[in-house]
Amino acid sequence: MEDLIIPDSVYPYLRVQQEHINHIEDRKEFEKAYKDGLLKQFELMLPWIPKNMHASLDIGSGMGGIDILLNNNFHQSTCLVDALNTLPICKKHNVPFNDYNICSEFFKKNGIDEFLYYLSPKEFKRISPFTHVDLIISIKSYCFHYSPEVYLRQLYWWCHKETVLIFDVRNDRPAWLKILRENFTEIDVLLEKPKYTKRVFKWKK
Ligand SMILES: C[S@@+](CC[C@H](N)C(=O)[O-])C[C@H]1O[C@@H](n2cnc3c(N)ncnc32)[C@H](O)[C@@H]1O
Repeated sequence: MEDLIIPDSVYPYLRVQQEHINHIEDRKEFEKAYKDGLLKQFELMLPWIPKNMHASLDIGSGMGGIDILLNNNFHQSTCLVDALNTLPICKKHNVPFNDYNICSEFFKKNGIDEFLYYLSPKEFKRISPFTHVDLIISIKSYCFHYSPEVYLRQLYWWCHKETVLIFDVRNDRPAWLKILRENFTEIDVLLEKPKYTKRVFKWKK
C-alpha cells in the first residue's frame, strides 16, 4: 500500500470523503492513515472476495482507492458509481460529489487504465449492466447515507446467484436493514462500529 500514488488533484477529494481522518492536517500523515485504512478494509473483505472474481462494482466509490487495491490483486473489471464532475465539496451526504477525470487520473497513475467503467448515478439507473458482477461493495455510502431502495432494482440486474455484497449499514436505520434482509440473505458481519455495521449479503434469488 505504501506504493499507492496519490496525485495532488486527488488529495482534496480524499480530504472530504474520508471524514474519519480529516482532522489530520499533515498531508503525509493523512495519506498514511488513508492507506492503512484501505489495507484494513481489504483484509476485512478478503475472506468473502470470490476466488475467480472477474468484475466488481463499487457504489458511492469516491476516488475508488479500495478498487485500485482490489484490481491490483484480482485484475477484475472495475465499475464505479458516483458523481461525474463536481467539486470536492460535500453539501449533502446523499448527493454525490466526485470527479470522473480526477478519479481516472488516480487509477492511471496506479497502473489501471483499461478496465474502469464509470457511471453517474443517473446513468446507472438507466443502463443495463455490462455484465454480472461477482462483488458489490459500498464503503460509507449506500445504506449509510441513503436508503437501499435507491439502487435495489439496479443491483438485482447486476447480481448473479453467488454475487457477494458488502455494505456499511447504518445502525440507527432499522428500516434499511429490514429492506436488506427482505431481499438478501445475510451471511456475515465483518465489523461493528457505534454508527454502522459492515455486513455481507447474497441475494435471495
Ligand atoms: C463518505 S464518501 C465515501 C467514498 C468511498 N466509498 C470511500 O470509502 O473512500 C461517500 C461517497 O458517496 C457518494 N454518494 C453520495 N450520495 C450518493 C448517491 N446517491 N449515489 C451514489 N453515490 C453517492 C459521494 O459522492 C461520496 O463519494
